[in-house]
Amino acid sequence: MNTKGITTLDEFIIDRQKDIPFATGELSGLLRDIGVACKVVNREVNKAGLVDIIGANGSTNVQGEEVQKLDMFANDILKASLMTSGECCGIASEEEEELVSFECNERNKNAKYVVLFDPLDGSSNIDVNVSIGTIFSIYKRVSPMGKPCTIEDFLQPGVKQVAAGYVIYGSSTMMVYTTGKGVNGFTLDPSIGEFCLSHPDIITPVKSDTYSINQGYFYNFGKGVQNYLQYCQDSTDKKSKAYRLRYIGSMVADVHRNLIKGGVFLYPAMKDAPLGKLRLMYECNPLAFLAEQAGGEASTGQQRILEVNPTELHQRVPIIIGSKSMVEEAVKIIEE
Ligand code: AHG
Ligand code: MN
Ligand code: MN
Repeated sequence: MNTKGITTLDEFIIDRQKDIPFATGELSGLLRDIGVACKVVNREVNKAGLVDIIGANGSTNVQGEEVQKLDMFANDILKASLMTSGECCGIASEEEEELVSFECNERNKNAKYVVLFDPLDGSSNIDVNVSIGTIFSIYKRVSPMGKPCTIEDFLQPGVKQVAAGYVIYGSSTMMVYTTGKGVNGFTLDPSIGEFCLSHPDIITPVKSDTYSINQGYFYNFGKGVQNYLQYCQDSTDKKSKAYRLRYIGSMVADVHRNLIKGGVFLYPAMKDAPLGKLRLMYECNPLAFLAEQAGGEASTGQQRILEVNPTELHQRVPIIIGSKSMVEEAVKIIEE
C-alpha cells in the first residue's frame, strides 16, 4: 500500500510473491507483462468505434501495413510481449492453429512457463460496444528448459495451472487473476494508467437467482437441459419468483458478473455440437480455476472441468460454471 492508499497491480504482485516459497519472480514478471499487453489492447478496444472515422478495415495505415482485426491485433500484442518477457517459452492461442515455440535465445533460455490465451473473447460484441475480454492461463513447462517447448507442456489438465485470469474491457477495464491463493480484481485507472486493487479476495455467493445461457438453442439442447431451463423459469419451486436470465454473449463478461454477484453460466452439449462450443484450454480452464478459487464450481456435467485430460489444443467442452449450489443444482437436474 502506498501513501495514497492505493495498491497497484505491480505492488500487489510483488507483495504476494513473498508468500510463495522459493519464488524467483518469474511468474510475477509474466503477470505484469500480461497486464501491460492488455493495457495496449484496451487502448485499441476503446478506439473501436473510431475505426470508421480514422480509417481501417481492409485499408492500409501510414506504414502501408494492412490494418488488423482487433482479435488478431490482441493476439499479436500478447504474443510479442510474452516472446520478449524472458519467462515464457511458448504460447498457444485461440487465434493460432498450432502452438508457437519461442526461440531459445539468451533471454529465453531459462523460461519455464507456457501461456495459453483467448486474445479477445466475445469478439462479435466489438462492433456494438458491449463488454469483451482477454482470458489467459499459465502452466509450468514439463519438458526440459533451454529446449523448444513441446505439446506436452500445453496439454496439461486445468488443475496444473499456476495462474489464470482475464482482463475485461467493460464500463471500466478490470484485471482479475488467481495464483491459487484466492481471486483479486484490479480496476484500471485511466488517469494514471495503472490497475488498482478494487476487489480484494473475491468470493462468489453460494447461490443467487441468475442463469446465463443461449436459450435460443432450446430445441437444440437435450432433454436434461430443456428440463433445467423449464425449472429456471418456474417459480413454484423457488417460493416467490423464477430465476432471471442474463446472457451477454461474451463468456468472460457473463462469468465476471456471476463471479461478483452470483449465478450460473451454461454452454452445454447440443444435438449438432456434442461438445458445446467453448474451448477447454483458452476459456473453460482459466475461468474454472478462478471460479473454484472464489468458492464456486465448474463442471462439464460429468466431471470437474479442471480434471479433464486435454487431448488437443483447440478441444471444446460443455461447461456449467458459477455459484456452487447453482452448478450442483443444474448438474443434478440435467443428469436426471
Ligand atoms: P470468441 O469471441 O472468443 O470466439 O468467443 C465467443 C464465445 C463466448 O464468449 C460466448 O459466450 C459464446 O461464444 C457465445 O456463443 P453463442 O452466440 O453461440 O451463444
Ligand atoms: Mn472466446
Ligand atoms: Mn476469441
